[in-house]
Amino acid sequence: MSHRGFGSDNHATVHPKIFESLLRANIDHAPSYGTDQLTEQTRELFKTHFGPSALSFFVFNGTAANVLCFRTLLQSHEAIIASDTAHAAVDECSAPEFHGGNKIITVKNPDGKLKPSDIKPLLIRKGDQHAAQPRLITLTQPTEWGTVYSLKELGDLSQFAKENGLFLHLDGARLTNAAAHLKCTFEDIVRAARPDAISFGGTKNGLMGAEAVIFFDPEKIKNFKYIHKQEMQLPSKTRFLAAQFQAYLTDGLCYSIAQRSLDLAQELAKELDHHKEIEIVQKVQSNAVFAKIPKDWTKPLKESAFFYMWDEQEWIARLMLSHDNEPEDISRFINRIKDLKKTP
Ligand SMILES: Cc1ncc(COP(=O)(O)O)c(C=O)c1O
Repeated sequence: MSHRGFGSDNHATVHPKIFESLLRANIDHAPSYGTDQLTEQTRELFKTHFGPSALSFFVFNGTAANVLCFRTLLQSHEAIIASDTAHAAVDECSAPEFHGGNKIITVKNPDGKLKPSDIKPLLIRKGDQHAAQPRLITLTQPTEWGTVYSLKELGDLSQFAKENGLFLHLDGARLTNAAAHLKCTFEDIVRAARPDAISFGGTKNGLMGAEAVIFFDPEKIKNFKYIHKQEMQLPSKTRFLAAQFQAYLTDGLCYSIAQRSLDLAQELAKELDHHKEIEIVQKVQSNAVFAKIPKDWTKPLKESAFFYMWDEQEWIARLMLSHDNEPEDISRFINRIKDLKKTP
């Protein structure tokens, strides 16, 4: 065990309300593989949040959610267009390529956000049998840099995708944080982006371990039930994944969890801004602060609150806040900075 730091929202505890929901689900017997009543009720709850056409399914982790979305929508000769920092492109040990055979074409950009003008030049070999055929745009919302696509940006990308016969996928491992930042509902995001699929996360926002995939068109997911099983992501005791999402999506719990980590990130950024040795390099729109720090401060600062270096060329640290961080974690960190500044 170590004290609370800024390592990752994956390091955080399970929110007590999620545990309570798991305990409530832990009675009697229930049918397996998603055929139980609690799973059905929770899938209905997804419709109230994502719109009446939302078809949701539960999986164990975010990498699998992405893989299932890609496999369901794509054939193996088709390519995925992603930001060069997209988790699916650089942090999933090529699981999407391995499972679906799809090439991932990455676009370099400064803030994790794709634009239609980035994608257009990639489409020139449409119809050329020698080239993998771009067929899906994946957007991470919020991005790995903690930036958030506005509803207008999502709308523009959506229109571009439709005009060019491309599917749109949202990697929403932290989608609630984006909704909290935009002060909008999940349905607002769906209306703007008109996505074909969403990987919707829970684990990074206080669940013990549950993610969902959401589709909107039954015609496009005729093979999903086979892929769900073949990819080893059909949970036998689905009710315990559903129970976590049921609590998460009830009484605004998801938004209050997200808002807390966003507020803490803002607070940390505000405090860091007082120190000229530190440069915040991205807008703080989600629960992470990306900051250039002096190299020789790294070890002592990590001892006061652990974090990862995101970019070892530029020496940029990723300081990630979670729902269970406390203001004292920030003061401990800032006090350490003040001490370091006094050291000659
Ligand atoms: C944006 C994003 N997508 C997907 C994932 C994958 O989640 P998992 O680690 O549960 O496979 C992560 C994990 O950090 C992530 O940050």
